[in-house]
Amino acid sequence: MTESRQSIHGQWSSRWAFILAATGSAVGLGNIWKFPYITGENGGGAFVLVYLLCIAVVGIPVMMSEIMLGRRGKQSPIHTMRTLAQEERAGGYWQLVGWFGVLSGFLILSFYSVIAGWALSYVVEALSGTFTEISGDQSGELFTGLVSNPGTQLFWHTLFMAMTMFIVARGVREGLERAVRLLMPVLFVLLLILVGYAMNSGGFTQGLHFLFDPDFSKITTEGVLTALGHAFFTLSLGMGAIMIYGAYLPDDVSITRVTMTVALADTVVALLAGMAIFPIVFANGLEPGAGPGLIFQTLPVAFGAMPGGVLFGTLFFVLLVFAAWSSAISIIEPVVAWLVETKGWSRNRAALGAGLVTWVLGIATVLSFNLWSEIKWFDKTIFDLLDYLTANILLPLGGLLIALFAGWVMNQNHSKGELGLEDTDYRRWQFLIRFVTPVAIVLVFLNAVELI
Ligand code: PHE
Repeated sequence: MTESRQSIHGQWSSRWAFILAATGSAVGLGNIWKFPYITGENGGGAFVLVYLLCIAVVGIPVMMSEIMLGRRGKQSPIHTMRTLAQEERAGGYWQLVGWFGVLSGFLILSFYSVIAGWALSYVVEALSGTFTEISGDQSGELFTGLVSNPGTQLFWHTLFMAMTMFIVARGVREGLERAVRLLMPVLFVLLLILVGYAMNSGGFTQGLHFLFDPDFSKITTEGVLTALGHAFFTLSLGMGAIMIYGAYLPDDVSITRVTMTVALADTVVALLAGMAIFPIVFANGLEPGAGPGLIFQTLPVAFGAMPGGVLFGTLFFVLLVFAAWSSAISIIEPVVAWLVETKGWSRNRAALGAGLVTWVLGIATVLSFNLWSEIKWFDKTIFDLLDYLTANILLPLGGLLIALFAGWVMNQNHSKGELGLEDTDYRRWQFLIRFVTPVAIVLVFLNAVELI
């Protein structure tokens, strides 16, 4: 039965194509924009350690499961979960995983696109020499000027959404595969250059201490939830993005190996970003807990002071846009694949429809930084709420359901066959996915709502 199932959306051309696409999905604003600022807000080292632990014991097993379910189901997450639940004679409610994914996809992309828009506008700033010799204060003003202006942000958000839906409409393989192959390595090299600069900035030791010296008195239960949520967000897990990419994965590829490669690349990029940013923060007397504006306020100072700063600065923000682009595409792909499957729409039409809805939702995020900044719920703006609801609640919840399905519902012969693991390795995965992952997620949840 599995043999005869085929994806109507096409297939990756090889193992490397999948690795690149999944890395393209994983590496994005989450690594370069979000990881540094939440690390700054949560006091550094201890947070980083908890985050790394979450990647190892929750992220990796869940990623293996998501790819496995996707490849076995070969459809959009909603239909994949329905087919697999039927196959295992389990209830239709497992489709809920797919529905959560659709909801998360719209919500995440709506704010993701606004932040990517900031990066787009910084390409122009960098190119026009705005950063030259800029001070920490001036850089802060530049950023405030951007976010306090709804019109400018709307413009860049619109442009980024158009770019994203253009690629999605053409299908993920064309164009994207090739672009990511070239750009990911360049981004990596640029981050290394930035770390090199940071080494001589005068704040390197302090930056490294902050990142890698755990001080557990600084971490709160809220911080632990943020670390767990971020493990899902940064690896694109818990909402079907990796599941749908898994649906296009050829049957003979080792799921464990691709998972390890993607998780490693993602983690290295995040740590490099941290190592580039915090030394600059300390050397310039900036505030590590500055929030979502952190990289936009710190990096211009570095580019403004280094030789060739206009070139490096422009390149950096161009690459950041590309990293965000390849992630954005995967955030909305489950929705588009589902529209094509159920409504029989063309990819063009599905992309346009999904894109319009997301674009409208994004306006709320744009306004939450200015006209609506006073609209708060639990002391959180609309942007904060969207981020919290998706990364800290919906993604871990989706991950929990995926873990339960893969570990407890799926027939062991099925999962063993798909994963292609030796006995001992299979047992290890099974132990993590059956016990460690669900217990960790539930404990962190209960703690966060202060039930225990
Ligand atoms: N992983 C992406 C990033 O770090 C964001 C993302 C989240 C992508 C969820 C897909 C699904 O930027």
